[in-house]
Amino acid sequence: MKSALLSRFFILLPWILIVILMLDVDTRRPAPPLTPRPYSVPYAGGRGGARSPPRRGLPGRSAEPRNVSRPPPPAPPLPTIYAITPTYSRPVQKAELTRLANTFRQVAQLHWILVEDAAARSELVSRLLARAGLPSTHLHVPTPRRYKRPGLPRATEQRNAGLAWLRQRHRHSRAHPGVLFFADDDNTYSLELFQEMRTTRKVSVWPVGLVGGRRYERPLVENGRVVGWYTGWRGDRPFAIDMAGFAVSLQVILSNPKAVFKRRGSQPGMQESDFLKQITTVEELEPKANNCTKVLVWHTRTEKVNLANEPKYRLDTVNIEV
Ligand SMILES: *[C@@H]1O[C@H](CO)[C@@H](O)[C@H](O)[C@H]1NC(C)=O
Ligand SMILES: *[C@@H]1O[C@H](CO)[C@@H](O)[C@H](O)[C@H]1NC(C)=O
Repeated sequence: MKSALLSRFFILLPWILIVILMLDVDTRRPAPPLTPRPYSVPYAGGRGGARSPPRRGLPGRSAEPRNVSRPPPPAPPLPTIYAITPTYSRPVQKAELTRLANTFRQVAQLHWILVEDAAARSELVSRLLARAGLPSTHLHVPTPRRYKRPGLPRATEQRNAGLAWLRQRHRHSRAHPGVLFFADDDNTYSLELFQEMRTTRKVSVWPVGLVGGRRYERPLVENGRVVGWYTGWRGDRPFAIDMAGFAVSLQVILSNPKAVFKRRGSQPGMQESDFLKQITTVEELEPKANNCTKVLVWHTRTEKVNLANEPKYRLDTVNIEV
């Protein structure tokens, strides 16, 4: 009787030990992170991305020869993307800038340079930027009255103010790598576009949707080089490309200190060509977006709003910012 009990005990003992061991191992496993990875992780590069916690070796296995994982080599600094956005007061301004902020907020290491066409910073834009949740610079410069005519290029002074700020900011220090692009507030930007432009070495180009009277315009690419332009308007331009279709490395901006958008002698629609001619050649352009076969930015242009029923005299009892 006694020996039968004892043998049963010895049969069960290993099982009990195994169960105890498994429970122990299970509680040692690190808890999964509570917060899901942000959607922008692919764009976050080496910064701020969730790194999996180091795994502790299980007891009893330490005898097994294991390759001690060395710390990964430090990731090269992620180039800062500078988005220069000229903007002016109009009924849809806040809606447009809100759409842009919502996009830019999801891009790592983006600095928004917002330049108002105004004699002073407006409260609407100041408040919007303060709440936008991203690094930003708020500039303003009024367009001279003589240039405010239909048929003349727009936002020239504002883009140049953005360029001047960039050059001023980096005048002493050896610049951290950066990429600049002109982010007009009437466009829609895919997050993928920022991934593409981030690797710009000098000047990169890509297609733009809903522009030039076509579904899209694009640089024509052969063997990885730009050889021409698919465009519906003045294909003879040296760079037949929309403002939303290129990015320039900060280094190129700094090493061409005189490159600006010109008023004098500039024809409408030639702004991009006039500017790019000063800093690059067609042969040098770096095609992005799968050799310029993907549309990642659209010239959406919000419809002009109808305010025909806006009251002239009997206003609302509260003053609401729109
Ligand atoms: C450790 O990793 C290095 C490099 O990957 C490899 O050459 C080496 O053979 C590994 N050693 C062991 C013990 O696995
Ligand atoms: C672009 O075209 C070149 C030359 O045909 C090719 O080597 C390269 O892989 C292409 N790039 C992409 C992203 O498809």
